[in-house]
Amino acid sequence: MATGEPYAVEALQVSKRFGAQRALDGVTLRVRRGEVYGILGPNGAGKTTLIRSLVGLIVPDGGTVAVLGRRMPSLDILARVGYMTQQAALYPDLSAAENVRFFAEIYGADGGVREALEFVDLWDRRDSVVSNLSGGMRTRCSLACALVHKPDLLLLDEPTVGVDPQLRVQLWDRFQRMAREGAAILVSSHVMDEAERCDRLGLIRFGRLLAEGTVAELKRSAGVERLEDAFLKLSESSAA
Ligand SMILES: Nc1ncnc2c1ncn2[C@@H]1O[C@H](COP(=O)(O)OP(=O)(O)O)[C@@H](O)[C@H]1O
Ligand SMILES: [Mg+2]
Repeated sequence: MATGEPYAVEALQVSKRFGAQRALDGVTLRVRRGEVYGILGPNGAGKTTLIRSLVGLIVPDGGTVAVLGRRMPSLDILARVGYMTQQAALYPDLSAAENVRFFAEIYGADGGVREALEFVDLWDRRDSVVSNLSGGMRTRCSLACALVHKPDLLLLDEPTVGVDPQLRVQLWDRFQRMAREGAAILVSSHVMDEAERCDRLGLIRFGRLLAEGTVAELKRSAGVERLEDAFLKLSESSAA
């Protein structure tokens, strides 16, 4: 990261309650451009709530969020952010290309539809209506919609759920390629074996960030060989 460049994401002490349920409890994290940052935790940990707070869809009860140097919520920063929701949000009656073009227009991007569809290997299926695409193809189409405007920050909420292993490898290669080209990628997962593909990880549980670091750092600090064990150990010590 160049000196003085703002963080792509700077979340400070972010908290959010839904009634009595504490979904986020003072989460602080920073993501730089050029890195793939993984938010790893079980279902109900607060991953979606965190990501939605970063895009401004949820207003936190406490703490602050800045994206690309701008305090959120900020409408003008959204043109530089891509967000892939956990459930594919596509228009089923439109073709793959029409969906991607629609998102390009919302973001005010000029073109880029072909490039985005090629990036996810869907150019050949561009004229198929989404309802005729397989689940994996819909996931790829959603990803194309999220990145058609070449965002500086890409937020991906469990993008590989229900995706076959071969495609998963391909998608992770792509996320890493985008990061190498200068984007910041924040990706959530509840699958431990995806952690190896992240430059840094935040382990989240009960709305709290238990620990943060590279896979090697997390294993070392917990004194264990496997990341699963690090997660368990860190969960126990934070509950104590
Ligand atoms: N809109 C909502 N209303 C009430 N409770 C919610 C809402 N969204 C999330 N929660 C609760 O907040 C907690 C965190 O949820 P979520 O962020 O979806 O976790 P994750 O994405 O890690 O599975 C869960 O206990 C969930 O039930
Ligand atoms: Mg979720």
